[in-house]
Amino acid sequence: MEVKFNGEKYALITPEKTYEDSFNNYIKELGSEERYPYPLDIPADDFQKYVETLHNYSQGKDLPAWLVPNTTYWLICNSEIVACSHLRHELNHQLKHAGGHIGLGVRPSFRGRGLSNLLLDLTIQQARAISIKEIHIHCFEDNLASKQMIQNAGGLLTSRIDNYQANLHLLRYVVS
Ligand SMILES: CC(C)(COP(=O)(O)OP(=O)(O)OC[C@H]1O[C@@H](n2cnc3c(N)ncnc32)[C@H](O)[C@@H]1OP(=O)(O)O)[C@@H](O)C(=O)NCCC(=O)NCCS
Repeated sequence: MEVKFNGEKYALITPEKTYEDSFNNYIKELGSEERYPYPLDIPADDFQKYVETLHNYSQGKDLPAWLVPNTTYWLICNSEIVACSHLRHELNHQLKHAGGHIGLGVRPSFRGRGLSNLLLDLTIQQARAISIKEIHIHCFEDNLASKQMIQNAGGLLTSRIDNYQANLHLLRYVVS
């Protein structure tokens, strides 16, 4: 899927082997920052295998016990991966409690340009395409950019878990 945003062309794709260098540079940029969403945290030394693994997960194949079927998306601009999202196709009890359908991160050097808004909208379109009617999206209360991004996408705050992790409160939104 291709879109124009602020005068640039962006494409939403699923992982491809040709982006190995761009992926490695994204990981380098993250440095010691937590790799979020989780596909950025899977070892990718064997990049071909990494790409195949993510495609298998998308088809519900070879899933570890802690995963439900989910698709990883990359947002591409000028042949660079600028952001990453993943969409869970379904939620188990635990993920409904905390986790939700969509996780998303923007490459550090591309932050502050509205790309999280764009990628969340595109990922929500993918959720609609597989008939998810109520999309659950969660974030920590102190993550102000994430909170704003979810609200921009039409997320309605449905509940809050106090002290979900230490002093971190989890906000739970639904996009209908
Ligand atoms: C959170 C994250 C995805 C935001 O990405 P980004 O591309 O820099 O965000 P955007 O530029 O699209 O900004 C999103 C909105 O947040 C707002 N925003 C940004 N920083 C803010 C702040 N400190 N306080 C309030 N609002 C803020 C922006 O103004 C924008 O709202 P607007 O479009 O209504 O003006 C990015 O910082 C990131 O990848 N963080 C690490 C991973 C993460 O936390 N993911 C979210 C987990 S739920």
